[in-house]
Amino acid sequence: MKASVIANKDFTIAKIDDRVYGAFLEHLGRAVYEGIYEPDHPSADQDGMRGDVAELVRKLNVPVVRYPGGNFVSAYNWEDGIGPREERPTRLDLAWHTSESNAVGIHEFADWCATVGTEMMLAVNLGSRGVDEARNFLEYVNHPGGTYWSDLRIKNGRKEPWNVKMWCLGNEMDGPWQVGHKDAHEYGKLAANTARAMRMFDKSLELIVCGSSNADMPSYPDWERIVLEHTYEHVDHISLHMYFANRDDNTPNYLGLSHKLETYIDTVAATIRQVKSKKKSKRDVYISFDEWNVWYHSNKKDREILDGNSGWPHAPGLLEDIYNFEDVLMVGLILNTFIRRSDVVKIACIAQLVNVIAPIMTEKGGPAWAQTIYYPYYFASVFGRGTALHLATRSPGYETTHAAETPYVDVAGVHDEDEGTLSFFLVNRHPSDSIETEVSLQGFGSGSIIDHQVMTHPDLKAVNTARNQDEVAPKKGEGARIEGDRLTVALPPYSYQMIRVKL
Ligand code: AHR
Repeated sequence: MKASVIANKDFTIAKIDDRVYGAFLEHLGRAVYEGIYEPDHPSADQDGMRGDVAELVRKLNVPVVRYPGGNFVSAYNWEDGIGPREERPTRLDLAWHTSESNAVGIHEFADWCATVGTEMMLAVNLGSRGVDEARNFLEYVNHPGGTYWSDLRIKNGRKEPWNVKMWCLGNEMDGPWQVGHKDAHEYGKLAANTARAMRMFDKSLELIVCGSSNADMPSYPDWERIVLEHTYEHVDHISLHMYFANRDDNTPNYLGLSHKLETYIDTVAATIRQVKSKKKSKRDVYISFDEWNVWYHSNKKDREILDGNSGWPHAPGLLEDIYNFEDVLMVGLILNTFIRRSDVVKIACIAQLVNVIAPIMTEKGGPAWAQTIYYPYYFASVFGRGTALHLATRSPGYETTHAAETPYVDVAGVHDEDEGTLSFFLVNRHPSDSIETEVSLQGFGSGSIIDHQVMTHPDLKAVNTARNQDEVAPKKGEGARIEGDRLTVALPPYSYQMIRVKL
């Protein structure tokens, strides 16, 4: 079987916004507690933050981390997480049927972001609260001093404002599971009023309004249209969320889900254009895909806690999906889609970062390790920066329940002009056949392969564990060649690869 790709230097999609490689950290399960924060851990720093986790995060070069939720934010009082720790209240977290100690709040999170070299993206509570909370939180975080909230921040130990630019106007407000769930008009008006107030403080903020929780919501895509009709002139991004699952254990279908993702992005991009035309607006609104990942492995196990049969535990194991090899392929396909839609997707956050549906897992008092999906995320985040190429790909395909034709070979290409490199990320969805793939490189001059990484595994369900951390890990690839302006490589069945070319 053969596939061909044409990469032409002048056929580009857009400059990829680095922030498409962002992540998400919610006060949920063991994401914060025992995830990033564990004061008794042997690797903990003076702030109680786990050094081993910080190291794994640093390697990913995560540009931005969204915080503190998620469903959690819709009943969160940010003021509970400031001031002396011993005076902070423990609260019930209705979203996840747990207790929140508030030992970690905005100060600790901000310090951790500085340690791992990432930017904060904060969410305000538009579920149980509203404009007032948002403006106060903003003043606390971004105002230099001389006012009630900014002086309180200084008193609490942080002199300089953090100058957070990205603010989410609530979370998944279309979802009836959300505390303070609203219909599209109610939410649209509240989001517009909140955005106006926040912009009165600082016009340059980047505001993200909630789109649908997923593409199967009954109100989708009217929700996007109505919410944007209320907010178009006041926001910069609309959020999309999507989680992927292989519930019926049908790998070809599962890997075809990226078609649903493309359609979702297309539809919301079209809705944005529709509202822009209706408003006769000059400004553009983009997509913030601020929650995405595979999520289903842990669903059954979590019911006990989520149904309230375990009381209100603090930081129990929740949403602890253990990822397998086929999830590597799915995550690679999702990231390839974001690269190809970099014209409209400007922010994206893998949900989440540690322990909770996450590429990084920890054991209390024990090791931290990379789950299988850590690697495609790592390759895209570290090497997928630059300009997305508009590739012409020809590949045989197959039918799934999502599309009449899904190509076996999925490719994204990135040209980094400053570094003089090309990076290709390739997935072969074929269950049994290796596919000979030829990439014609047009207009780039001569080049040589500087890195070739391959992920394959005889067992689609293979996982990494605390005791066997490298069961699924990338290996140096062999056999990729450049002759003249043609790069050739064999893609083994069910494989993920990255090939980098120095020009
Ligand atoms: O990431 C887990 C949850 O998924 C988030 O809290 C919520 O926004 C979404 O439904």
